[in-house]
Order: sequence, then structure tokens, then C-alpha cells
Amino acid sequence: MNRKGIILAGGSGTRLHPLTRVASKQLLPIYDKPMIYYPLSTLMLAGIREILIITTPHDLPAFRALLGDGSDWGLSISFLPQPTPDGLAQAFHIGADFIGEDPCLLALGDNLTYGHGLPETLARVGERASGATVFAHRVDNPQRYGVIAFDDGDRVISIEEKPRAPKSHWAVIGLYFYDGTAVDRARELRKSRRGEFEITDLNQSYLRDGALAVERLGRGYAWFDAGTHRSLLEAGEFVHVLQRRQGQLILSPEEIAYSHGWIDAAKLAEHAERLGQSDYGRALAALLP
Ligand code: DAU
Repeated sequence: MNRKGIILAGGSGTRLHPLTRVASKQLLPIYDKPMIYYPLSTLMLAGIREILIITTPHDLPAFRALLGDGSDWGLSISFLPQPTPDGLAQAFHIGADFIGEDPCLLALGDNLTYGHGLPETLARVGERASGATVFAHRVDNPQRYGVIAFDDGDRVISIEEKPRAPKSHWAVIGLYFYDGTAVDRARELRKSRRGEFEITDLNQSYLRDGALAVERLGRGYAWFDAGTHRSLLEAGEFVHVLQRRQGQLILSPEEIAYSHGWIDAAKLAEHAERLGQSDYGRALAALLP
């Protein structure tokens, strides 16, 4: 199955101080790598090599300078602008030609998801040819997110965007698997009251058709939406503490490309050299045979 990948790294949703907004937040680092490396790595873990980055016209050249055409990681990366932040589901209007009839995986540019078994889960879900699959993670403050409620039989009852009175603690994370009908479904959406094409409305379209699956990521997973100063810092701390303790990189595109056989040892050595004497460079060098 040729599943395409999209990363939405546009301008809205920023709860950061204006002075930190010299560039899109997805260019800011979470500890030792740019934020966008994390969703990029997640798409790579799902086996996806053809990726579209959607961002603001202003920041598009900076993302292109950072990621190039993706060949350094054995990927094919292209870029399209989103002139105004009109909602997450707009990714399917902008990316319609890129997606064509293929299934795709949409990742939000400010999300970090990490846990034992994630690659296997992504591979299993990626095999589903029809319908949509979203992931739910338990959080303390569900009103900030899309929220899913289940009945006693674990069936999805509802999915609501930022409800004032959430029916559960299960937040929808920024990682969405869709079949080939997503573009047509997205074309039928109308803007919400807050003026956006809501991803939750797209998911509701699948739910109405009995075609929405939900995977719950249990407490063994970590999920961050690094859209606030606090969550940005917390995500950075998380990566820092785990990497330091384990001596292994968290969501490194170079390591994933190498372990998938998409780049060879010579290319990995080039990356390690380029990153010099940093811990990141040293960790990559340690992977070399
Ligand atoms: O992080 C998970 C949550 O993401 C979900 O639980 C919600 O259902 C979903 O609506 C979304 O909520 P957020 O409030 O976090 O969305 P935000 O507006 O912050 O946008 C998420 C990312 O997408 C952010 O990096 C900015 C980017 N974005 C956002 C919009 C609205 C775009 O690139 N274009 C857009 O039009």
C-alpha cells in the first residue's frame, strides 16, 4: 500500500509569546533537534517515504533549507504553502493532488509521541485499507483537545473538539490515518464557528459511516503537544532525561533511515560528521558498524 505522509506545520495554534515567533514553532528545538523532526520520525517509523510539508508562505523556505528534498534520509519531501491557518482539515484541500487516491497519514508538526511498541502499532494500523484510525491518550486537561467518549463496550460514542464539559479524559493525538476517501470528505466540510475546517469534523464523517477506529495508547506512552511554553519545555526535558539515561536517541530521522536501510553507513557517517561533537552527532556515530 502506498501511504502518503503529510505534516502540518503552519502558523496557527500558537500560544507562544510573539517574540518567540520569529519563525514557525515547528522550527524551534525540542531539546536537541527541530520540533518537526519528531513527527517526521513518526511518519518514517510508519514506513512512509513520500512526505508533504504544509506550512506558511513565510516559513516555507526555512523548512526547505532544513529538510531539502529529503534524500539525506532516503525520503522524498515536498512543500506547499497554507496562506492562512484555516484549519487542520484544509491539509486535504491543499494536498489533494499530492494524495491522489492514496491512503495517507497526517501528523501535526508540534506533536511528539513516544512509547514501546509504537512502530509495531503504526505498522498494524497502516495495513488497514479502509476507514480512518485515530489515537487516544489519557490527559488531565481534555478540554484543550479533541475528546473521544466510549460506551461500556469500548465503542466510540462521540468525538468533540475542545468541549467545555469533556465526556472523558481521552484526547485525540495529532496523528491520523485515513483511507483514500479523506480528500472527498474534506471537500464536503464547512468551516466551524471558529472559522476553521476542523479535523474533528472530518473524523465525525468517518464515525457517522461506522468507519472510525480508535487505538488507545496506554500509560506506557508519552504524548506531548508542544504548543505552549510549558509543554515545549516539558517535551524537551522528557527527551533530555531519557536520552541521557539510556544513551539512545529519541525519534532521530537519521537513525530511523539507517535502521530501515533507506541510507547506508557512509551516509550515516556523513550525518554524524556534520553534527560534529554534539551528543547527537556522537550518538549517531555510535550506530556505525
Ligand atoms: O494536538 C492534538 C490536538 O490538535 C487535537 O486533540 C485536536 O483535536 C486538534 O484540533 C488539534 O488541536 P490544537 O488546538 O492543538 O490545534 P492547533 O490549532 O494548535 O494546531 C495544531 C498544529 O497544526 C500546530 O502545529 C499548528 C498547525 N496548524 C494549525 C492550523 C489551525 C496549521 O498548520 N494550519 C492550521 O490551519
